[in-house]
Amino acid sequence: MIKRLLLCTMAFIAFTTATADEGMWLPSLIKERMKSMRALGFKLKAADIYSDREASLKDAVVQFGGGCTGEFVSQSGLLLTNHHCGYGSIQKLSSVEHDYLTYGYWAKSLDEELHVPGLTVSLLVSMTDVTDRINAGEKSEDIIKKASEGNGYRASIEPMYYGNRQYLFVYRTYRDVRLVGAPPSAIGKFGGDTDNWMWPRHTGDFSIFRVYANADNEPADYSKDNVPYRPKRFFPISTQGVQEGDFTMTYGFPGNTQEYVISDAVDYVANVSNPMKIELRTRRLQIISEAQAKDAAVRIAYAAKHASIANSWKKWQGESLGLERLGTIEKKKNYEQEFARWAAQNSEYATLLDSMHEAYKKVVPGYFVRELFNESVASIEAYVFARWASHLAMDADKDSTKLNELRTRHANFIKDYNVEIDRKIACFLINEFMKRMPSELIPQQLTDAVSGNGGINEFVDSLYNATALLNKELPLTAAQILVDPMVQFAGWFNGIVEANRGYIYRNISNVPEIEKWYRPYMQALRLWDKERAFYPDANFTLRVSYGTVKGYENADGEYHTHLTSLDGIMAKDNPDIYDYNIPQQLRDVYAKKEYGRWGTHIGERHSVPVCFLATNHTSGGNSGSPVINGNGELVGINFDRTWRSTMSDIEFDPSICRNISVDIRYVLFVVDKIGGAGYLLDEMVLK
Ligand code: ARG
Ligand code: GLU
Repeated sequence: MIKRLLLCTMAFIAFTTATADEGMWLPSLIKERMKSMRALGFKLKAADIYSDREASLKDAVVQFGGGCTGEFVSQSGLLLTNHHCGYGSIQKLSSVEHDYLTYGYWAKSLDEELHVPGLTVSLLVSMTDVTDRINAGEKSEDIIKKASEGNGYRASIEPMYYGNRQYLFVYRTYRDVRLVGAPPSAIGKFGGDTDNWMWPRHTGDFSIFRVYANADNEPADYSKDNVPYRPKRFFPISTQGVQEGDFTMTYGFPGNTQEYVISDAVDYVANVSNPMKIELRTRRLQIISEAQAKDAAVRIAYAAKHASIANSWKKWQGESLGLERLGTIEKKKNYEQEFARWAAQNSEYATLLDSMHEAYKKVVPGYFVRELFNESVASIEAYVFARWASHLAMDADKDSTKLNELRTRHANFIKDYNVEIDRKIACFLINEFMKRMPSELIPQQLTDAVSGNGGINEFVDSLYNATALLNKELPLTAAQILVDPMVQFAGWFNGIVEANRGYIYRNISNVPEIEKWYRPYMQALRLWDKERAFYPDANFTLRVSYGTVKGYENADGEYHTHLTSLDGIMAKDNPDIYDYNIPQQLRDVYAKKEYGRWGTHIGERHSVPVCFLATNHTSGGNSGSPVINGNGELVGINFDRTWRSTMSDIEFDPSICRNISVDIRYVLFVVDKIGGAGYLLDEMVLK
């Protein structure tokens, strides 16, 4: 028994020497990859990437907001991330009079940096493999408590390899983060949803923030007295650019991959889950776009919502196509057959796959119900707000602050809310819910309510007319809120919500009834598939991915080169197309070719580089990640993958999978020539 435990331990630590490109590696184990990284051109040491004693590059990387990455580029806490990561903040600070989305924003001094309420960044203090401590009987709660007691740190234990290893992550979270600069959306979101996930790409997807701390450099709530945070490490910037074949490394917080799942899971994603989600979002997006086209205020209010609904919608389409093209389901089935042949000789694993297939059969219907509910009724804005309202109102007699909290939430909600959009979406989504849900899960009250002649539409109209939650002012008392028709409506779904409580898993394969089989499955794969390079699936913990700058063959005879330029922006520029209507300033700079130090030779042309491709294995969450060259200097900010490579969350194909970064020279050019904020460059170390 001891011997077996030891074997598993070693198996998960010692990585095989494998090819580059695929893989999201744990920074604390990056030594294991050094040989392969050096071969591609990396010049620093493993301890430069990660050390929990000395300052290392990990101290220059932050988790930005809920789900993005950012990086320090000055000793005064100046932070780069994507425009789409800062989008919610920029929007929150914007109004029709101060429209920073449209015109951009550039703080001329520290005084003009705008505090973003609620925005935080987290720095990783340390990551430690605690599997052995847990196996020796120590409780996770105790380990977490010990790591976070009395120091203001946030600690969590994250499973790797479906729980075969357990890692303790300790973070320090800064709560005073301010907007420093943002380009006009016509640059930061250039190409919009049309170009999203696409190549060639010309998006200046960056925004600039600054982290503030108290006088001791410690996290503090917002205060005018706070001062710029002094990071232990920040990235110097290379203005030398990238060539095809150059080493690049992306350092950030990818959220979710599932590389080791069996064919049943891929089948569910490609043929059941994605198609449902895509269909429901297609109509929601239509409804929002139509309203946005008619009204500038609605365009602003729904800009961030539209972008986030559209983003996954498009990704899922690319992912399903990619899985189809790669024949991932067939490939996995063959792999499983071979595995089964080997497993038949190992009593321990002989029936493992059967158990897994069984588990999927059992879990799929319930998981689908959860996803369908999330994408339908739970995507109605009034429903979501009513849930908050009822929770807070219920607690209001015990805790008088709850009613205030509710009023603040209500004000934020109403600011960007359009009842006509939501009403239309509610009609559509309730209809889809009733059509697709197993009938025994449809609340009787709903069936009764829509049984009149006017059906769903009439019911929704009367519901939206009767509720007071959507008024500019909220009803006065908790009791009034609790009997509000929208709160009552939300209550009809308590059964479904209850049944799904604790059912928030990253993927179907993480549902406990299934996940428990993946633990031995991963162990078995290690024993059987000795050539494979194993890395843990992404789970919003800090990872390193690396590879090279590289184009790809998009179609027979059609090669997509690794770099785009300002000329490509000008070729797309069109005042009549919202996504391609660049600011006049950019046209002027182009007309006079006033590129200053940012102009360079791109092929035969003199232009400004804009975006580049590399083979780094990234995922959602890697947005805003620093992309560095072999010397550890910043050459770009990761912001996307190509559409055809989005299946890399399940199967990575080195011939086609590419991450997309905004070239740091374009960032500097925009700050300098469009923002007129060249003084920000003085803080940075440019090489
Ligand atoms: N596709 C990128 C990511 O997944 C960028 C998304 C934001 N841009 C947009 N046009 N919606 O986050
Ligand atoms: N845009 C994504 C993000 O916000 C990164 C793109 C991807 O999924 O690779 O993290």
